[in-house]
Amino acid sequence: MSILVTGGAGYIGSHMVLALLEHHHEVVVLDNLSNGSAASLERVAALTGRDVAFIEGDVRDRELLDRLFHQHKIDDVLHFAGLKAVGESVEHPLRYFDYNVSGTVTLCRAMEAAGVRRLVFSSSATVYGDNDTVPYDEALPTGEPTNPYGRSKLMVEEVLRDLARADTRWSIALLRYFNPVGAHPSGLIGEDPLGIPNNLVPYITQVAVGRRDALSVFGNDYPTPDGTGVRDYIHVMDLVEGHLAAMKAIGRRPGVSVWNLGGGRGYSVLDMIQAFEKAAGRKIPYRIAPRRDGDLAQYWADASKAERELDWKATRDIEAMMADAWRWQVNNPGGYAS
Ligand code: NAD
Ligand code: WQD
Repeated sequence: MSILVTGGAGYIGSHMVLALLEHHHEVVVLDNLSNGSAASLERVAALTGRDVAFIEGDVRDRELLDRLFHQHKIDDVLHFAGLKAVGESVEHPLRYFDYNVSGTVTLCRAMEAAGVRRLVFSSSATVYGDNDTVPYDEALPTGEPTNPYGRSKLMVEEVLRDLARADTRWSIALLRYFNPVGAHPSGLIGEDPLGIPNNLVPYITQVAVGRRDALSVFGNDYPTPDGTGVRDYIHVMDLVEGHLAAMKAIGRRPGVSVWNLGGGRGYSVLDMIQAFEKAAGRKIPYRIAPRRDGDLAQYWADASKAERELDWKATRDIEAMMADAWRWQVNNPGGYAS
């Protein structure tokens, strides 16, 4: 099949492109490189021995999308393009609604005009809001995300539900990711955050490689087994395999389907530090810092719906996540610019 991957030069998108090529799909990538790197796609091409059609451009550019759908016969769209920094979304909410919500609306209008009606959307566990019931399963009502980034994901979910209600020819997967981490085991592609990392695992690997002094552990007084925040980390390769399964499933499922993509268990910040130290064979200096605004104590996925309906489950453990994240970082201490 021929697949359009928006945001395919980013962290998850580049791993997705690799998996699609390995599964013999034709791939077209649309990315404006605001947070991605063309080098990631060159490495994917080198790893797979296959070409990727790359179009540098923006999902909010309707004319460009019309040209793209005219020039390439697309079967499915995997929509990763968007902004994802929670703190930045609080400072610049309009930018987030523009990229994430308007970007998706423009993409869907172009898809509709081109007669392409199969879409896989990168949603997030953040749409559950501050829900006390763990694990989170897809039947829980969505909550109130604590920031504009999260609200933009929830808005897009609702836009897509309305679209599928209005025209039953659409097949849409809303994939709610928990915490994607790790890298392809080659160490050639991985997560390359701009500036100071917001997320735990890239921060840990940058401390280990000497780019940061020490990790701040945001709070050790949460009502969790060791007092630090608990999350459901999922290896990025498991995550992209979940997309392959979802893509296959929506081929025979009209309407909107929602699946959590998580490992189905929680690990604390201290568990993650320990797993990293074991995998990399080096110590991570850390200090306990105040809680970070907007953080929840603990949540993880009930991942059984995806297992039942997609015949998919995450198989890589936290040691593999850490070993792969570390291989990427140590081979590319400055990211793609190294
Ligand atoms: P990323 O920033 O590495 O990748 C996003 C890519 O989209 C980048 O290459 C960027 O250049 C591109 N892009 C952004 N806006 C664009 C636009 N308007 N037009 C074209 N390209 C554009 O992020 P990621 O971690 O790979 O995340 C991919 C998707 O998954 C995002 O939608 C994100 O919100 C979602 N998600 C990520 C996480 C996570 O923790 N990484 C968790 C849940 C959901
Ligand atoms: C994980 C744990 C922190 C950094 C975010 C978004 C979410 C989703 C995934 C996109 C927490 C602790 C972190 C640090 C720390 N993204 N931590 N020191 O916050 O669970 O989720 O990314 O949809 O929407 O909110 O991920 O990696 O930032 O934090 O102690 O330097 O690590 O407090 O307990 P989070 P994270």
